Amino acid sequence: MSAQVVQSVAEVQRALDGIRAAGRVIGLVPTMGALHAGHGRLMEVARSECGCVVASIFVNRIQFDRADDYDRYPRTLTPDVEFCAERGVDIVFAPSVEEMYARPQRAFVEVERLTEHLCGRFRPGHFRGVATVVLKLLNIVRPGRAYFGEKDAQQLAVIRRMVADFNVPVEIVEVPTVRDADGLALSSRNQLLSVEERRIAPVLIRALRTAQGLVAAGATDADAVRCEAARVFEGRPEVRVEYLEIVDPEEMQPVARIEGRVRIAGAIWIGKTRLIDNLLCVPAGSSR
Ligand code: PAF
Repeated sequence: MSAQVVQSVAEVQRALDGIRAAGRVIGLVPTMGALHAGHGRLMEVARSECGCVVASIFVNRIQFDRADDYDRYPRTLTPDVEFCAERGVDIVFAPSVEEMYARPQRAFVEVERLTEHLCGRFRPGHFRGVATVVLKLLNIVRPGRAYFGEKDAQQLAVIRRMVADFNVPVEIVEVPTVRDADGLALSSRNQLLSVEERRIAPVLIRALRTAQGLVAAGATDADAVRCEAARVFEGRPEVRVEYLEIVDPEEMQPVARIEGRVRIAGAIWIGKTRLIDNLLCVPAGSSR
């Protein structure tokens, strides 16, 4: 199997015109490359639901709040294209920076409120950069469906809201997080961890699962749940907790009392690598 690699906007639009005219549903999997089984799952779901699957690979400078993070981000285009082909992707759209940002970008998408907490608080401009590039990709590819991972739950909420508020004609599909056997959520950043750091990394999912268990058992005081979950990090000087928050799943606002479904989300630093993860917490007997 092979995937067609396309680098220009005009070329991808030309390739997709015929497919759209033939009535095939186009599925878009936006990525920044360094592909892993988490992306693979997005592609597989897209493949099972769409007549044509496009994966974009573009490391989007404007969503990085730190230049060193942008520089360190893994870039592995050749194996990524092979990875896409093996998962039945039809077209890999891999534009250059000059192609995506042919002129200095003057228009940006700002999604208010949903970006105030969690990563939004610690990564100024990040979601503005994400929402802007995703809107560009949606306008270039014009897919019927676009696929995003639950691991980036705040990103997903921001994109859903942008699509709803701008009436973008696309269905946003959420795909569950893929984890290693020890629970660590798959991320392109995991490959930046040393062997020792990788051994420690599942501490984040352990904290989140602690909170999830407490909520399922009937705990309603969000602060108490958070504090109990944070105890998992005690005696771990290698780990710096950036945030551990319990929020409502739509607007991503911190809650004081847990009365329906909530999301617990965390970000930690281990050495120079930042990891994020989250879990949906469902109180016992909750139908909301
Ligand atoms: O989740 C990612 O990899 C990126 O934020 C995305 C959605 C591809 C936009 O650059």
